[in-house]
Amino acid sequence: MSPLSDAMTASARRKVCVVGAGYVGLPSAGVLARRGHEVILAERDPSRLAKLLAGEVPILEPGLDQLLAEGREAGRLQFEASAAKAVVECDFVFLCVPTPQGDDGSADLSFIEAAAAEISPHLRAGAVVVNKSTVPVGTVDLVTRIINRSDVSVVSSPEFLREGTAVADSLAPDRIVVGADNRRVGMEVAELFGTSGTQVVVTTPTTAEMIKYASNAFLAAKLSFINEIATICEAAGADIKDLVWAMGLDHRIGGEFLNPGPGWGGSCFPKDTQALVSISKDLGHDFDLLTAVIESNERQFDHIVDKVAAVVGDLSEATIGIWGLAFKANTDDRRSSPAVTIAQRLVATGARVQAFDPTVSAKDAAAPDLAGIEICADAYGAAAGTGAVVVLTEWPDFLLLDLDKVGEIMERKAIIDGRNVLDPALVRLHGFSYTGVGRS
Ligand code: UGA
Repeated sequence: MSPLSDAMTASARRKVCVVGAGYVGLPSAGVLARRGHEVILAERDPSRLAKLLAGEVPILEPGLDQLLAEGREAGRLQFEASAAKAVVECDFVFLCVPTPQGDDGSADLSFIEAAAAEISPHLRAGAVVVNKSTVPVGTVDLVTRIINRSDVSVVSSPEFLREGTAVADSLAPDRIVVGADNRRVGMEVAELFGTSGTQVVVTTPTTAEMIKYASNAFLAAKLSFINEIATICEAAGADIKDLVWAMGLDHRIGGEFLNPGPGWGGSCFPKDTQALVSISKDLGHDFDLLTAVIESNERQFDHIVDKVAAVVGDLSEATIGIWGLAFKANTDDRRSSPAVTIAQRLVATGARVQAFDPTVSAKDAAAPDLAGIEICADAYGAAAGTGAVVVLTEWPDFLLLDLDKVGEIMERKAIIDGRNVLDPALVRLHGFSYTGVGRS
């Protein structure tokens, strides 16, 4: 038992249900168990549930296996197929179900609506339902209407964890935001996570929902901004690394989230930026700035393709190696991955594309997003016979490769470093041409 849970008084120990064992639900359940609460994680997907029951973790997330094992061993973390059954004795129910992008750019709320309808008749009097999924402004009202119980509260508590560092982010968040009409209920939700040393913002549900979208949109804008600056650096002969370093020293700007790359992606930014444009439109405002941010990101994917073409010439005749397919390092998530988008744009030119990612194996080759891409067993396999290798995910393993060996098996010794992770001088010392993002 952690000291925190030892110290926890019986009255502070609550029964909590987490609905949805995904990238948000799993770390949230683990952290709530670590905080000493009794947690039931409801997951309706039979294969995902079977893995959890067998002590396995269905996603790659550093530290998550230990966190969940710790909860299980302490008897504070259980798994259940039915959300209706799981909620019966719970004081708090966290909805951590997906909110994918609908056809018109708005968030598809069908999973949240279904979960709310399923649990409603089974909630105990006084229960608090917490929306943790990223949901449009007004969803607390929607869920309140679906639950339709005067003895149950519905609040919003958006999640700010990043994939790849989800456990660390959840254990030590920058802030806890709760949107609740009743401030006392809001504080109770915040206190579940142990608030010592963490800033807590209790506000209205609508404001909490907006905080989440505004935060993701701002971060996406920061990234599109620096990617555009990197392009200008390329034309001007300036160095983006020194520029970012110097810019970040201004505490009003901050150095984080300023690494240029192949464009931003993942399961959140693309869908949330589109959703915020759609929400704004519905509210009568054209969010042209955010639309430009999204368009800039689309151009960044093409900018990387252009870099490849500049090295190999006719893409339709070329064989290209790709290092990295996940949308960032330390995750196996390829949803809206810039690496996959760029690989597919290369495939569309007629290029032969062979790729390696430590989380992708030959058995994944049939996945629809990987159509036309040859999956290789290692980074050397992906480089063999190619006219250029493109680094698209910042896996640390790529820094440890034997560059002489890579050079021997390539047709042309050219590396396009879409993440600026390699040392240009070292790469050139081994006889390669090096192309980075915003630096020469
Ligand atoms: C993002 C937010 O950072 C989280 O705060 C939020 O909780 C989450 O979305 C969500 O809404 O659930 P995530 O998508 O997991 O987290 O990952 P990020 O680390 O934000 O990366 C997003 C994209 O930006 C990736 O494609 C990444 O490679 C790119 N990125 C990030 C850069 O290109 N440069 C950077 O300096 C940072």
